[in-house]
Amino acid sequence: MAAAFALSSLSPASAHQPVALLPTDTTAEQGPLLVDGTVSFAIRASFTKSGQKQAFRAALKEGDRLEVQYLIVDKKPESALSAKRLPQLVITSPTGKKLIMKFTERTKFYEPYGRTNYLYLSRYSAPAETGIYSFVATARTKAAITIAVGDREVEGQVLRGPAPKPSSSPTATQAASSPSPEPTKTQEALYTMAKVKENNSASSCWSAINGNVYNLTQWINSHPGRPAPILGLCGTDGTSSFNARHRGQASPTSILAGYLLGPLEK
Ligand code: HEM
Repeated sequence: MAAAFALSSLSPASAHQPVALLPTDTTAEQGPLLVDGTVSFAIRASFTKSGQKQAFRAALKEGDRLEVQYLIVDKKPESALSAKRLPQLVITSPTGKKLIMKFTERTKFYEPYGRTNYLYLSRYSAPAETGIYSFVATARTKAAITIAVGDREVEGQVLRGPAPKPSSSPTATQAASSPSPEPTKTQEALYTMAKVKENNSASSCWSAINGNVYNLTQWINSHPGRPAPILGLCGTDGTSSFNARHRGQASPTSILAGYLLGPLEK
């Protein structure tokens, strides 16, 4: 588990912000959206058996570059797997072009903050199209991988749920002349306080913090301040506890962002 955060430096300047995919992130639409795909993120996908999928999305625009790296921890089982048994990563561009990441290297990389040895297996860099890229990893056996996206070391934003509408909202006349699809009614109030209260255990631990809902299940045993403070947040509004200990601290804030489910519905 520690490896999930290994690329998150505790000094934010060189952080690949960590995002741990959830078992429910089985399609790109269900997975998290990196709002700006040029910002550096380390997405961790982990599988227990063949056939499992985990996915996410990243938004880019023309003029940006798509930068993707496929890494594994230099440790068994992953390090002993042949290319055919490692999870396959398929990237689909906004216009539907598919790319399968090919394993072309095995370059060692020591990540000092998590004191973890990684191996780069593949890197991809190309001019981006405008729109949302999808990334789907499919397991061929039990394994965990890290997909690094973007190279700008600034604070990034991760969203869950449908992609936000483009910022230039159409005027009434435009809307009338080019009817847009029905507003999605599927966006039911997913992350209410009632829902948070249902997820109040170590096996499913949600907390509302500063107006957002987070799934902290995977963080319980990785928290440097021991599991107890995180267990205390499960099923509650953890705003005051979190702020009392970590307000304004870059590392806890960016780790928290990796567990975002969505805004707390009032
Ligand atoms: C999801 C929420 C939280 C996240 C993401 C988080 C993250 C972190 C991180 C990254 C550290 C190590 C580095 C640092 O101190 O800057 C840390 C340490 C610590 N955290 Fe948290 N934390 C969370 C919630 C809490 C809460 C609610 C408490 C207590 C009320 C707490 C108590 C501590 C303590 C005491 C340490 C210091 C451990 C040590 O230095 O040995 N944390 N936390």
